Amino acid sequence: MSTNTEASKIFLFDSTLRDGEQTPGARLNHDEKLEVARQLARLGVDIIEAGFPVSSPGELRAVNDIAREVKGPVICGLARAVQGDIDAAWEAVKDAERPRIHVFLGASDIHMEHKLRKDPALLLEQGVEAVKYARKFTDDVEYSPEDATRARDEYLYELLEAVIKAGATTINIPDTVGYAVPEEFGALIRRLRENVSGMDKVTLSVHCHNDLGMAVANSLEAIKNGARQVECNINGIGERAGNAALEEIAVALRIRQNHFPYYTGINFSEIYRTSRLVSKLTGISIPSNKAVVGLNAFSHSSGIHQDGILKNKETYEIIDAEFIGGKAAQMCLTARSGRHAVLDQLKQLNYSLNEGQLETIYEHFVNLADKKKEVYPEDIEALVLDHLSFAEPRYRLDYLQTISGSKSIPAAVIRLKKEDDSIVEEVAVGAGPIDAAYNAINKITGLSIGLEKYRINAVTHGRDALGEVQVEMSYQDRTISGRGTSTDIIEASVKAYLNGLNKLLKMNGYS
Ligand code: KIV
Ligand code: ZN
Repeated sequence: MSTNTEASKIFLFDSTLRDGEQTPGARLNHDEKLEVARQLARLGVDIIEAGFPVSSPGELRAVNDIAREVKGPVICGLARAVQGDIDAAWEAVKDAERPRIHVFLGASDIHMEHKLRKDPALLLEQGVEAVKYARKFTDDVEYSPEDATRARDEYLYELLEAVIKAGATTINIPDTVGYAVPEEFGALIRRLRENVSGMDKVTLSVHCHNDLGMAVANSLEAIKNGARQVECNINGIGERAGNAALEEIAVALRIRQNHFPYYTGINFSEIYRTSRLVSKLTGISIPSNKAVVGLNAFSHSSGIHQDGILKNKETYEIIDAEFIGGKAAQMCLTARSGRHAVLDQLKQLNYSLNEGQLETIYEHFVNLADKKKEVYPEDIEALVLDHLSFAEPRYRLDYLQTISGSKSIPAAVIRLKKEDDSIVEEVAVGAGPIDAAYNAINKITGLSIGLEKYRINAVTHGRDALGEVQVEMSYQDRTISGRGTSTDIIEASVKAYLNGLNKLLKMNGYS
């Protein structure tokens, strides 16, 4: 992957499963990570940064399962510039078709002095040793001087020259705190190409954060100045204000080909689906006005615009929704749709389900079709996502009854089934029926879990639509998201809370 051999290809490095998962509350479980990785491969990303393996045994196992199963993209594991991290990263990615180790270490004075508290010369040596160590395992090693946009040029030149000599094959320039502005960032990329000997032999990459809302603009400017790999995340999720949004970069390069003479390996018709999958599994909703994948990106409200669109779409639309997979054929199913039609629809959705899982989803479809006249592909997808983690949850909803009304005290009776099939039951009151139900669950678990965010949306349209609830919950210093769907919004709320609770218990090793 050098700038010489493939001058016009831009390699997309997706870090949704690593930097994206650092979004508060966006924790994914093992099965969810695998499903996202499979979808990223369908989308056609070049590199998947699957995680930070040293962070936990579960993370290492998830990255390793991705490395063994997901074919096509390079599978990369992140490591600090220390042997233990590099050992864990290699252990996780070694079974991939094409494994990569990504090493990072602070390079700005502020990071070296205050965070790492070490002499710059020693840190330079540490970076070099880390690259040499990683090269013992693989010939694909990426090096990131963290906080590069606030580092001194002379230090960066010396450091990068040394790590390239030590064997780094990709040099990634992170704008770790989203401080850069496009012109300045482009100039930095140009200076690095001109002043670092060996830079023409490696892939030059960028990694932009969005604190000032310029991550995508900075990435595009870097491409114009010689970067050939861009690190980005689906829906722009990531630490703090997020990272550059993959879909925005890919679509901008394609729609403005006259300005950007480059191409990517992206399969554009998978963008919409990938975006929704990541949003649903992480619980991080997509703002309606988000570029490319927001709900309003293809809606027109003013009469003048609607009139123009009816006469010729090009009057007010530069991206066709179908181009990014936004308008899948709307074949709707009913209670009378045969088993074959339902299974066929499930297969079209492209999730990797085994026979047993297909059967489970079919049973849930039958129940849903009893309550809802028309079942849309989005409804089926919601059922799949609800049951994606087929691992046995600690608590399942067995029975729910709530009381509410203008003259009554809101109350809830909740009965939960535990993994061993024993039943636990509680009654509680609250400010409303959902609050009462959540209080009852907290009484059962004995944990005082806080509710930070609550959001409800209709999955499709009509009064009988499935309601989808997304919650963000907090417990001690952790936040976790949960989601649940039902035609009954109180039940959907309880399912979302239980989904988050089960994830939390698993993370804390209770189950
Ligand atoms: O933002 C950053 O600096 C990072 C590095 C690990 C590349 O995420
Ligand atoms: Zn980052």
